Amino acid sequence: MLYIGVDLGTSSVKMLLMDEEGNIKSIVTREYPLYFPKPGWSEQNPEDWYSAFVDGIKELTKDCNKDEIEGISFSGQMHGMVILDENDNVIRPAILWNDGRTQAECDYLNFEIGREKISSYTANMALTGFTAPKLLWVRKHEPDNFAKIKKVMLPKDYLAYKLSGVHCTDVSDASGMLLFDVKNKRWSKEMLDICGLKEEQMAKIHESYQVVGTLTKKAAEETGLPERVKVIAGGGDQAVAAVGTGTVGAGKCNISLGTSGVVFISSQEFAVDDKNALHAFCHADGKYHFMGVMLSAAACNKWWMDEIIGTKDYAGEQKNITKLGENNVFFLPYLMGERTPHNNPNARGTFIGMTMDTTRADMTQAVLEGVAFALRDSFEIAKSLGVKIERTRINGGGAKSPLWCKIVANVLNVKVDKINSEEGPAFGAAILAAVGCGKYSSVEEATEKLIKVIDTTEQDPEIVERYNKKYEIFKQLYPSLKDMFDKMVE
Ligand code: XUL
Repeated sequence: MLYIGVDLGTSSVKMLLMDEEGNIKSIVTREYPLYFPKPGWSEQNPEDWYSAFVDGIKELTKDCNKDEIEGISFSGQMHGMVILDENDNVIRPAILWNDGRTQAECDYLNFEIGREKISSYTANMALTGFTAPKLLWVRKHEPDNFAKIKKVMLPKDYLAYKLSGVHCTDVSDASGMLLFDVKNKRWSKEMLDICGLKEEQMAKIHESYQVVGTLTKKAAEETGLPERVKVIAGGGDQAVAAVGTGTVGAGKCNISLGTSGVVFISSQEFAVDDKNALHAFCHADGKYHFMGVMLSAAACNKWWMDEIIGTKDYAGEQKNITKLGENNVFFLPYLMGERTPHNNPNARGTFIGMTMDTTRADMTQAVLEGVAFALRDSFEIAKSLGVKIERTRINGGGAKSPLWCKIVANVLNVKVDKINSEEGPAFGAAILAAVGCGKYSSVEEATEKLIKVIDTTEQDPEIVERYNKKYEIFKQLYPSLKDMFDKMVE
């Protein structure tokens, strides 16, 4: 049997065909435009997602026996607002996760209604990227559009709707809307009231591995897939990427060193930190997870290498870095502001501690270390909630650097494992499809069978000790500079 995993990203949709043993048979990617109608705004047309998907799926499946395709599932860019009218037509372009227009709405939610209250309803605080502030924005600035809303959806759910005709979502993606009671896995009546919405305007909630329906006749004709193919709910991209790296079950961790950086910790129990510094969301395995998101991780090294030093030889630059934990230069990696733990768009990148004998290698090292220290900020919050982490998986472009993996292992004092697949979200989505079709009894069983550790970087107690001392300095830098950062953008 064959399973299709679809990763609906911000710049492209990636589709992957997997067999029962987890072998990847083919991968196809299709791009679509991203619009920035005003500074800080970010939008896409849901119809573009669907036509890119339909085009790609035909190529993905052109050489396979379509009778073997059993199910399809999704990973999606999270937090985006898709609104449909009474005829299920898209009312306006989707407002995406990286759109920053809703600061006033977030201030209203966090400060006038109050963060504690919002957190008691949703387990999270308001952030500009989340969906509820976007709905408040549309209500205020586009009241005619707001009045037309029949259904509120998330990006990947629009694809599932187009395929199955069902208005559905899943618990992991719903968690990022700030409209969802994460602990009890239901829509928050209080948040719907605050946003002027009714429950019937929301999609039906599923676990990520549950079947929502089969293909409509129209979708079968458009895609060339058989009508009996099952559509499985899928999840938010971080949760599904975690499935794709086997980060499921109690206290497992994955670090993503991509453009942005993510610390993802799976948990059997619901918990929330008292400052809402970490996101507390449902996981795609039926349980929960915490997540810290850094806005610039591997992007910092890319910026430093490509723009400042002017080289593409990343490995060559790293060859001269040998003295881990002995660098006196620090780098704050806030080149795009920061989400976790500071939630401050005004935070800025900073080098500090240089002397006349500082070398280019010291500066490069500081960049790699600064990202690792910032990941540790999320780790420390998770530890304060009683989570014990002894090892983590790592993926993303930055994970290709053995030196960076070693720095991460020593700064976080954990073993760092690399796994046999690099296809994170699309692979995770195919796994969810296989679970939904009954090939595996649970997400955990599927990932245990399909995902293997192929390499481990161990920490060295002496280096760990040195980094512990350095981290004590690092964590004082942002608080000392915060007022300055805020003044700099006034
Ligand atoms: C998760 C997040 C991103 C987006 C886009 O909270 O903001 O992962 O889903 O990829």
